[in-house]
Amino acid sequence: MRFSNNFLDEIRDRVPISSLIGARVTWDRRKTNASRGDYWACCPFHGENTPSFHCEDKKGRYHCFGCGASGDHFRFLTDHDGLSFPEAVERVAEMAGVPMPARDAEAERREKQKASLTDVMELATRFFQDGLQSQTGAKARAYLRERGLSAATQQEFRLGYAPDSRNALKEHLASKGVDKEQIEACGLVVHGPDIAVSYDRFRNRIMFPIEDSRGRVIAFGGRAMSADQPAKYLNSNDTELFHKGNVLYNFARARKAMGKDGSVIAVEGYMDVIALAQAGFATAVAPLGTALTENQLELLWRMSGEPVLCFDGDQAGLRAAWRAADLALPLIGPGRTLRFALLPGGQDPDDLLRAEGSQAMSDVLTHARPLADLLWMRETGGGSFDTPERRAELEQRLRELASRIREENVRRHYAQEFRERAQAFFGGTRTAQRGGFRKDGAQPRPGAQMRGRLAVSDSLARSALVTGQGGFMPLREAGIVAALVNHPFLLEQHFEEVERVGLTSPDLKRLLSVIVDAVAHDLAQDREALQAAIGRAGLEATWERAEALTKRARLWPLLSGADPSDVDDAFKQALHLQRATHFLNRELRAAESALASEPTEENYRHLVEIQSQLQSVQATEALIEGFGIGSGRAARG
Ligand code: UTP
Ligand code: MN
Repeated sequence: MRFSNNFLDEIRDRVPISSLIGARVTWDRRKTNASRGDYWACCPFHGENTPSFHCEDKKGRYHCFGCGASGDHFRFLTDHDGLSFPEAVERVAEMAGVPMPARDAEAERREKQKASLTDVMELATRFFQDGLQSQTGAKARAYLRERGLSAATQQEFRLGYAPDSRNALKEHLASKGVDKEQIEACGLVVHGPDIAVSYDRFRNRIMFPIEDSRGRVIAFGGRAMSADQPAKYLNSNDTELFHKGNVLYNFARARKAMGKDGSVIAVEGYMDVIALAQAGFATAVAPLGTALTENQLELLWRMSGEPVLCFDGDQAGLRAAWRAADLALPLIGPGRTLRFALLPGGQDPDDLLRAEGSQAMSDVLTHARPLADLLWMRETGGGSFDTPERRAELEQRLRELASRIREENVRRHYAQEFRERAQAFFGGTRTAQRGGFRKDGAQPRPGAQMRGRLAVSDSLARSALVTGQGGFMPLREAGIVAALVNHPFLLEQHFEEVERVGLTSPDLKRLLSVIVDAVAHDLAQDREALQAAIGRAGLEATWERAEALTKRARLWPLLSGADPSDVDDAFKQALHLQRATHFLNRELRAAESALASEPTEENYRHLVEIQSQLQSVQATEALIEGFGIGSGRAARG
């Protein structure tokens, strides 16, 4: 039976999760802080000697930093004790002293009906799968081979073929005892008052089963195999099982894969999802041929706080990205946002993978832009802000955008960020005009233009935030490394980001590689062991300096003894800023050389834009608590 969310929330709230789990594990006395409702133990889901299993009463959730197991009360009871979901609910209700809700006969009948419809969909899926292997499926097999899908991939995604017949599926299902009403309710046939004899909806198509969040087939997408067939893709109509705005293709598989790697990727098409999975990106999902809906955004956020949306880099793709940005804007919050990856001109992920391989795709994903960037670029891109009126209008639009954010803290930060970006941007545009157009109408000499501009970027480039060379130790980088030593679980959780973090300080780089090595080879699971490894590598002095710097800047969350949830947030923030600066600096160098070889107004604008983005990253950093002190400044060692 189904339980209302209210009921589930109520019983969950009444039972501290530690009391439920505490009956089955022994809390680690050293790490646990019972007065804060913060508990640690050796993980009951995998073997270990040092506790990396964490549960928190305030959140009502557990998480193992070792094996990734996580969930709430019910999840613990189903996964650990092997109870069914209703049994788990009953158990928690009992602990909460709340009576179980009365059974609702109508709801039960609907559940039964749905269950029988999923059975029918399962039969249809097998029918299409068999069809793909049969003689009539030869062309379809060739098509899929041609598109580079391995047999394993085809099986994993349960791809099939619908034969070119008006009643093959209908008759197959009838022979299995499925009645007419059920076939119609599944959307498998075209029927209606003016249709004398219903007929199979999907004919001569490659079939993509669409599954619900538990992996049950609830709909199909069917792809034509030649361009002369009308409608490239045909999807199931909405049915009792399937509401296309509430479903993401590949959600169940992607969510399962989330434990292992990074963040969820949203793409536009079925083929993109499948090609990505085959290339090792198992966390991709797609909407069903329509623009992303609010419900689908919520699904994405259930998987990850920062999903990456991929769009073709052409005009249509950019417009789709903007639409998604506008949809998301009111709904974002702390740790709940989007990033945008735009693919090189007119390609989708499937095209890109085929043309350039998975490294190219990784690059696109690592360069995904924050939501704020996308909006900023939209509002300023191609515009001209050469009069006070136009500049005021831009500011007004930016203010209006920020005001749509419902969550007050993020709203405040957006308003501030946009204000600062605009200031930096206008400063730059005015300079551009002074340098760009002379009264006598003659073009200024390129050399003269360059000097003024390079002076700006030069000083930026020299700032410790940017380079960190010559004995400088950038604070943020020191903080990142200190956090890793103080809280080794961070490395497990953010391994790939850490590997790619792009430190500029050679000393810290060496230190980081010792840490990564030690953890990767399982030599160091706690702070003491890591420090020993650092000592063995002769990097004690560097470590002490990094820690001292972090302490002096009062970056408490990164030091030992901090609350794990604070640690994680602060660390993610630091990583994010580091990545942003790293990327922007690369772009800055490219923009400078573009300008040097071709001193056009456009190249100049581009340089100014990147400079202003760098400044805004610095500004963001200054806003963040902890990083506010000594932000971006270096200490001499
Ligand atoms: P695309 O036209 O980008 O196709 O549609 P694709 O995903 O790249 O597929 P291939 O590579 O040509 O096979 C993106 C998505 O839009 C929906 C489908 O969900 C498709 O995956 N779509 C597209 C339709 O629903 N109907 C159509 O006629 C076309
Ligand atoms: Mn495609």
